[in-house]
Amino acid sequence: MSEIENKTEHGSMDGATAGTAGDPKNDTGLGLGVIFFIVAFLICFLSGWLLFPKLLYSKHEQPFNFDHVLHVEEAGDCESCHYLRDDGTFSGIPKMESCLDCHTDEPMGDTMDEAIFTSEYVAKEREIPWYVYARQPDCVYFSHAAHIQAAGMDCQTCHGPIAETRTSRPYEENRLTGYSRDIWGKNIWGITKNPWDRMKMNDCAKCHEKETGHKGYCFQCHK
Ligand code: HEC
Ligand code: HEC
Ligand code: HEC
Ligand code: HEC
Ligand code: HEC
Repeated sequence: MSEIENKTEHGSMDGATAGTAGDPKNDTGLGLGVIFFIVAFLICFLSGWLLFPKLLYSKHEQPFNFDHVLHVEEAGDCESCHYLRDDGTFSGIPKMESCLDCHTDEPMGDTMDEAIFTSEYVAKEREIPWYVYARQPDCVYFSHAAHIQAAGMDCQTCHGPIAETRTSRPYEENRLTGYSRDIWGKNIWGITKNPWDRMKMNDCAKCHEKETGHKGYCFQCHK
């Protein structure tokens, strides 16, 4: 008991002398401590901010580069590859069959990408395992017909300018959820400039409210 009292008294005495007497040695100690704390905090904060998104997502390259600009010119329009079928379902990414309208297992040009395409996929009659940037979780029901036919929307509104690019960007997969990064978007704070920067539940619902006056019922998007 008395020992503890002694200790606390000693402690507070020490504190008092340090505080009132203003021992210069102790002051610099405190100053350095504060600076050290701020520097350490900034290092942790910045590295977390810069590193976390890098660690959270794993990058996958597409099987080979696909040049949309070249192919839109060659094919004439999007519909020769991405179209609505008569039953209202969407063709999505074209199957190998539609590439064979123009390609054979003999490359037409001399790029590495075409060599991979013809030798690994055309010659071996294998489908190309493309990564789908816009892929939603399995529980989500999405209909292209409702948006591009009934509502007359542009592809770009939701996908951005993918068809104006010559190079396929890497697909980024969230290590925790397994979902595509395009759902959450690039900005870790969730700030968006374009409608295609993020495609989470609220982004679908916000546009529905604006365009149809109703956010929609759960079962419209989850069947
Ligand atoms: C309308 C005809 C047409 C269709 C359909 C078509 N291609 Fe092509 N593709 C071309 C032409 C023409 C070239 C240019 C060849 C050259 O380099 O001279 C080309 C080039 C390529 C290249 C190399 C381009 C580069 O710059 O590296 C790849 C890879 C490729 N096509 C893949 C595909 C795939 C995959 C499909 C099916 C989804 C497909 N193509 C469908 C006409 C077509
Ligand atoms: C010759 C066939 C062809 C034509 C023509 C074509 N595409 Fe594609 N498209 C593809 C292939 C193959 C992929 C998958 C590879 C990739 O993502 O780059 C793709 C992927 C896409 C995707 C990405 C889907 C996702 O989330 O992964 C969008 C969006 C798209 N195309 C839009 C368009 C638009 C818009 C046009 C017309 C301006 C167009 N495409 C013309 C073959 C084609
Ligand atoms: C209202 C937003 C919206 C519009 C408009 C839209 N898409 Fe999509 N698209 C999506 C979503 C969401 C997915 C993912 C669907 C899923 O995973 O169930 C998708 C998927 C795709 C895919 C990949 C499908 C697959 O799994 O193979 C392609 C290709 C594509 N869209 C092309 C297009 C093209 C071309 C247009 C214009 C004609 C278009 N989209 C218009 C939202 C949209
Ligand atoms: C930029 C605007 C916009 C975005 C983004 C959007 N939608 Fe829509 N959606 C519409 C409009 C407009 C309609 C009504 C079309 C019509 O006239 O039938 C619609 C209709 C639908 C329908 C059909 C509803 C029904 O029962 O008839 C479904 C399902 C749907 N959207 C799901 C989604 C999902 C899931 C997403 C997000 C991944 C999404 N939408 C993103 C504008 C949008
Ligand atoms: C306009 C379309 C839309 C409506 C309406 C909607 N959802 Fe969703 N929901 C989505 C989309 C798209 C996702 C996936 C993207 C995300 O995680 O935000 C999702 C994801 C979810 C998830 C997470 C599932 C997962 O695997 O990550 C739950 C839970 C959910 N919704 C429940 C609901 C409930 C409950 C309602 C009704 C109050 C509802 N949703 C209405 C589009 C919708």
